[in-house]
Amino acid sequence: MTQIGIVREGPEEARVAATPATVQSLRKLGYEVAVETGAGERSSYPDDEYRQAGAEIVGQAEAWSRPVVLKINPPSDAEIAALADNATLIALLSPALKPELVEKLAQRGITALALDAVPRISRAQSMDVLSSMANISGYRAVVEAAHEFGRFFTGQVTAAGKVPPAKVLVAGAGVAGLAAIGAASSLGAIVRATDPRPEVADQVSSIGGTYIPVDVEVEKSTDGYAKATSADYDRRAAEIYTEQAADVDIIVTTAQIPGRAAPRLITASDVALMKPGSVIVDMAAAQGGNVEGSVAGERVVTDNGVIILGYTDLASRLSTQASQLYGTNVANLVELLTPNKDGALTIDFDDVVQRSVTVVRDGEVTWPPPPVQVAAAPSPAAPAAEPAVAAEKKTMSAGKKVGLIVAGIAALFLVNLFAPAPLPQHFTVLMLSVVIGFYVIGKVHHALHTPLMSVTNAISGVIIVGAMLQITDGNPVVQVIAAVAVLLASINIFGGFAVTRRMLSMFTKGGQK
Ligand code: NAI
Repeated sequence: MTQIGIVREGPEEARVAATPATVQSLRKLGYEVAVETGAGERSSYPDDEYRQAGAEIVGQAEAWSRPVVLKINPPSDAEIAALADNATLIALLSPALKPELVEKLAQRGITALALDAVPRISRAQSMDVLSSMANISGYRAVVEAAHEFGRFFTGQVTAAGKVPPAKVLVAGAGVAGLAAIGAASSLGAIVRATDPRPEVADQVSSIGGTYIPVDVEVEKSTDGYAKATSADYDRRAAEIYTEQAADVDIIVTTAQIPGRAAPRLITASDVALMKPGSVIVDMAAAQGGNVEGSVAGERVVTDNGVIILGYTDLASRLSTQASQLYGTNVANLVELLTPNKDGALTIDFDDVVQRSVTVVRDGEVTWPPPPVQVAAAPSPAAPAAEPAVAAEKKTMSAGKKVGLIVAGIAALFLVNLFAPAPLPQHFTVLMLSVVIGFYVIGKVHHALHTPLMSVTNAISGVIIVGAMLQITDGNPVVQVIAAVAVLLASINIFGGFAVTRRMLSMFTKGGQK
């Protein structure tokens, strides 16, 4: 049975790579877990809780000597030396930015898996630490801004006067940006966001933000990440940032393009336009910064009293939550590497996720992996296919439509000609209802079909009343039809209520009604 070591991070890091809950998950996969004394202390997971989860609490050297070591930050030289021969290290390794670290790990003859190299594909989402940490960091960026900001985020009307809501601009609506938009709008601020990927507009508005488009053609993303923006785009975006800087109170920047320095979005002259007491959080400060004047890891106050936060440890500032999500991501990766749940770690290079995260295998550098063609965004071919299908539908239905109309008119004419007294009248009403219903319902947006269904319950009610009046008719055929009408309309009513109830409970917090 392989033993996993959970080591304590350095003084600047409050997170831990496993929580008592994820220790249990690792043990279910057949591993024995040893946790270094005090590893979870700064994220509120005391040694005792690990012990109760079945882990052994050990000293530093012992935790580092286990065949598999789980960690958050890249190891120092001393830590690499402390690893056992043939060990497997799983941590954030930034292999693209730290080739010398990859080389050192290879020289040590070990296997190293970089959690920050998990590809952005749906199957790997449960292991994607970059996304889970960015989500936490985006939220925390807003909390930091709110802490510095001298006013409410939400607007209020109080006995002491009216308070306007704060205005927040989020630049870059990726994972961190969307979390920031959600956090700021739930605090009551007016939130605007911009991003070169127009496909994020719906996501922005669905969490309470307003998307500001930069009306310049942009190359579509095929891998969920942005491409470098054009000079035209940057020029128009710069105008927007200048306009917004003069108006908003808070700016959170999260813009990044993988493998490049962070794009510079907010200039010093934009910052100079902001009101004193305004706050900027530059989440990309560690990659060179989206904001002129931000300093990685520092709080800077400009001459005009604008506070620029360049904190690079936002996830660590929410360490309990961050450790829980990180620990779960790691446990999910370990599960993928343990197909037989027998405590034996194996790496299958035919699996794209396992291949991507492996930067060193048994002392051999395996970074970079072959490129992964991922489709986090719709591929450019997909939208092109849609109009073709739509056009095909149109040509097919045009001829049919005329035929149907002619057939309908002929049927109406025949019924009016031969049917006894009240039938033609009822039939005409039915036909008109079908035509009107078809056009009305056909124009209703898909998202509104459920409320529409609730409204049609009223129609079902009318049907039931009519059918109940007919059920006493002496003719057994009429009785049967009336009974069937009551049954079908009842199914519609109760089914409609059940579906609506289910939909509503999706929007109720914690499943409360
Ligand atoms: P992401 O790739 O999901 O999102 C980045 C977004 O920036 C994308 O939506 C992209 O379209 C957008 N973007 C690219 N160029 C842009 C431009 N010129 N103008 C406006 N938007 C642009 O990345 P994620 O995971 O959301 O991370 C965002 C940033 O936050 C990264 O720089 C990351 O390193 C940083 N980060 C910082 C942390 C901290 O503690 N300070 C913690 C976690 C992440």
